[in-house]
Amino acid sequence: MCGIVGYIGEKQAYPILIKGLQRLEYRGYDSAGVALLDGGMKLYKRKGKVSELSAYVSDKDTSGTVGIGHTRWATHGVPNDINAHPHSSPSKELVLIHNGIIENYATIKEGLLNRGYQFLSDTDTEVLVFLIEDILKKENCSLEEAVRLALNEVIGAYAIVVMSKNDPKKLVAAKKGSPLVIGIGEDEYFVASDATPIIEHTKNVVYLEDEEFAVIEPGKKLSIRTIKNAEITPYIQELQMELENLEKGGYEHFMLKEINEQPRSIRDSLRGRMDPSTGQIKMAGIDEFEKKFLNAERIIIVGCGTSWHAGLVGEYLIEELARIPVEVEYASEFRYRNPIINENDIVIAISQSGETADTLAAIKLAKSKGATIFGICNVVGSTIARETHAGAYTHAGPEIGVASTKAFTAQVSVLSLIALTLGHKNGTLSESRYRQLLEELDTVPDKVEEVLKTNPQVKGISQLFKDVRNFLYLGRGFNFPVALEGALKLKEISYIHAEGYPAAEMKHGPIALIDEEMPVVVIANKNTSYEKIVSNIQEVKARGGKIIAIITDGDKEVTKLADYTISIPAIDEALSPMITVVPLQLLSYHIAVMRGANVDQPRNLAKSVTVE
Ligand code: G6P
Repeated sequence: MCGIVGYIGEKQAYPILIKGLQRLEYRGYDSAGVALLDGGMKLYKRKGKVSELSAYVSDKDTSGTVGIGHTRWATHGVPNDINAHPHSSPSKELVLIHNGIIENYATIKEGLLNRGYQFLSDTDTEVLVFLIEDILKKENCSLEEAVRLALNEVIGAYAIVVMSKNDPKKLVAAKKGSPLVIGIGEDEYFVASDATPIIEHTKNVVYLEDEEFAVIEPGKKLSIRTIKNAEITPYIQELQMELENLEKGGYEHFMLKEINEQPRSIRDSLRGRMDPSTGQIKMAGIDEFEKKFLNAERIIIVGCGTSWHAGLVGEYLIEELARIPVEVEYASEFRYRNPIINENDIVIAISQSGETADTLAAIKLAKSKGATIFGICNVVGSTIARETHAGAYTHAGPEIGVASTKAFTAQVSVLSLIALTLGHKNGTLSESRYRQLLEELDTVPDKVEEVLKTNPQVKGISQLFKDVRNFLYLGRGFNFPVALEGALKLKEISYIHAEGYPAAEMKHGPIALIDEEMPVVVIANKNTSYEKIVSNIQEVKARGGKIIAIITDGDKEVTKLADYTISIPAIDEALSPMITVVPLQLLSYHIAVMRGANVDQPRNLAKSVTVE
């Protein structure tokens, strides 16, 4: 993880860097730092968030038209001032920022220690900047050549930017595994982990590919080479992103804004892809690989976190509607368990960021075994989107809050389209059911809008339960993954222990936890297992548990049983996860706010996990 940003040009670098770091803070926020060149080298680093760095720097000299900045998510070494980036070389002439992990850092460090170098930090990054300077001095070469030679010795993942006091009109940037984008302005360049720090300055960008490095000099054309020294012609793309999508737009938190954006984001995920009046679904990525999909022996869905939960909903959808066997795997497990994959398999990789290291490694593995890889990503141009054979963007717009909300519903919406189109094409779905589901899918954005009106009521319930220590979430069928997602939302932002369970499985363990203290959130909308879930509610009540039930409008039976109910509009159960999840997002949001937690930047988490 970690966010990196750099600037070189004629403007003052510091304000650009700090603003950029704030945009990148979703990638990690345990410490931050900047280095600026203005004749001499200025280096400021601080444990804590970017705001703590800027407060610390407020009375310091920040002049300089060249600079680099970093916001960290610790991997090697605790978060403190010393382990914060940028890291300096032994002579202090070079500084470097890094996102990724240098896996063979211990071996390189040992070699450098044997030659008398002394390290200040516990990081793998410091080893790299020492190595670059060591090569620079030994080979008496250019900065870029020293970087190139050093990277040839490195195993692992990196996005780096290097700045040198002796070469003040140049930045050298390189990438492998972690993302890096270069913004091209007029006589100025920007470098960052993603385009968000760049968008307000220029829309022209170049995404570096793995094992490429760039020599960035204002007034000169961007020079890109591979670390094996082959020249690359930069491919300049125009950013489609809009600046206002990156702001909070009047909401107190990004998470609340993103929850409320769901009617729009779900609509955007469907836009242009389906027409209920003609019964058509058009998804270029599916059409292109139609034969492969329809002949697939099975579909394997990989993802992490919330994206894995969306994958579980996808499994229920595709198996139910298209009758194609589906397996859903944590990308981190899949990549290391020597899975059986062949050319007849389709792997669907789900990732909001499109940068998650485990998901990326999983698809590379599946690709090497001949499988067809389909991506469902939110970030346009992201690494996973580029690594796949085909795909469908979720079009949810930038998601900044670390807890994923609108990305989840957009992922499920795209998975619904895929399941519907496959079911329709292979004839497992009757025309009438297909048409009915298409029409219902079209109503989902409006129904989410309805559910958002329960916000004051959810807030009231949150007030009652904000101090409990445990929560249980139960659901069945399509809403079992929603129970998992509801529990994940609560634990990640409020730090309350929460477990999601298939409701019937409760009696094999979690029931032992139930007493008067235990709130149990039950997704009890009208569906095929409604009667069963009513029984599960009875079981909880019999043991004194407190029931918060998500019910279909007008449901009198569960209203009588439950302590608190939140009503949602009726919807076919196959499409209900996009609706039932919304009150659970709101519940976790309000509880976290009431507990004084930092909702958008929960402790220890990061939005984009580019380390394994
Ligand atoms: C992190 C984020 C989660 C996200 C997961 C997978 O853990 O905090 O919100 O679900 O990564 O990320 P991806 O970008 O691949 O969906």
